[in-house]
This record gives sequence, structure tokens and C-alpha cells, in this order.
Amino acid sequence: MSSTESIPVITVDGPSGSGKGTVALAVARELGWNFLDSGALYRVVGLLSLRNPGVSPADLSQSLDLHFKKAPDGTPQVWLGTEDVSLSIRSEAVSQAASRVAADPAVRAALVQAQRDFRQPPGLVADGRDMGTVIFADAQLKIFLTASVEERARRRHKQLIEKGQSANLDDLLRDIGDRDRRDRERSAAPLRAADDALVIDSTAVDVSSVVQQILSLRERIATG
Ligand code: C5P
Repeated sequence: MSSTESIPVITVDGPSGSGKGTVALAVARELGWNFLDSGALYRVVGLLSLRNPGVSPADLSQSLDLHFKKAPDGTPQVWLGTEDVSLSIRSEAVSQAASRVAADPAVRAALVQAQRDFRQPPGLVADGRDMGTVIFADAQLKIFLTASVEERARRRHKQLIEKGQSANLDDLLRDIGDRDRRDRERSAAPLRAADDALVIDSTAVDVSSVVQQILSLRERIATG
């Protein structure tokens, strides 16, 4: 066993807007564990590819000067060099660019180690698409969180309006549908539940009860 294999990992995978980011962060906070938002890495490569259309995304992903920090209120921030990109990586244009670059096996390969480096004591909660299938295939607890596409578009719409950004529900439904298709149909690490993942449908369930369900599963595993 390598030095990190004994460090527990909970993976939370699923499509965009399933609530996995909120759920995974809440579980990490409750347990006092580290948190990996793997989508942020693909989003940063997506942002860079929009800014540097002449450079291949694979080259852009080789030496990312990326740092995760915390705002004074504990909100996770993403920094690229000296630039806080936390907001710019959440735009719809970057979301689409991220899912395009994420289909490139060379980009995915370049980001593997950076993601595994997050496995630090006392444990890690990892949020993404291939956390349970590829990056942390040996995780002790794997969750696959889904919700209907309509519910996911509605949540995204609410989020954008709350942030003061403009949003159109029909456009979001189409964009989320497009991204889902690209994420599920790509050949490199497609979005799917690991065979040993527990699938939770959050369409009609609130975040806090999903968090409680995951914490009690974790408790059961920890106490054997
Ligand atoms: O999770 P988030 O919506 O921030 O991810 C942005 C995009 O990055 C996704 O649409 C997906 O294409 C890609 N992604 C991925 N593998 C991950 C995390 C995200 O392919 N582990």
C-alpha cells in the first residue's frame, strides 16, 4: 500500500447541477476533510483555451499555476497565478469550453496527478465526473448524485439570478443537455456511476438530507 492509499476518500460524481458540489463541500466541512472541486481544473483549462485560441488545450493544461484558497468566510476560491478566477470560471461560456477540453485524453492525463495530490490526511471528499471510476477508483465510499435535467436547469437559473447575472431557463436547459451528452458520450473517462457507487436522485430531496445520508454511510464504514 502506498503512503496515501490508507487516507480515506469519499467520491461524489454526477452531472452538472445535481448539487454534488454543494453536497461534497458540506460533507468535507462536517468531517473536517480536504475538498477537491475537480471541475475547477477543467474550467481553468477552458478559460485559458478561450483566452488563447491558438494554443492546444493539452499544452495549456501542462503547467497550470493554479491555487485553491479560502475567502475569509470559508468560501473556496480558485486563483490562476495572481488572478482570482473564481467567478470567471463559472460563466456559461467557460462551462461549455470546460466540457469540450475535458473530452481531450491529453488534458485529462495532464490533470491526474494534480487531483491525486489532494489526498491528504485526515481524508478527502472529491467532487467531479470520474472521481470514483478513474482518479480515486479505490475510494471507500462512492456516491453518484443525479437529478432531472429540468430540476438542474432550474437550480442553475436560481444560482445565476442570485449572483446578479442574467439567465434564461430555456438556454440553460439546452446548455446542460449539451454538456451532459458530451460528458456521457466521450471516450475518455465518460460520466457514469462506478459499479460500486451508491446512486442518489436529488430531484425531490434537499441538500441537507443527502449530506446526512452520506455522513451516516461514512460512519457505518468507519465503525466497520
Ligand atoms: O463540475 P463542473 O460543472 O464544474 O465541471 C465542468 C466540466 O468539467 C464538466 O462539464 C465536465 O466536462 C468536466 N469535468 C470532467 N471531469 C471531472 C470534473 C469535471 O470531465 N472530474
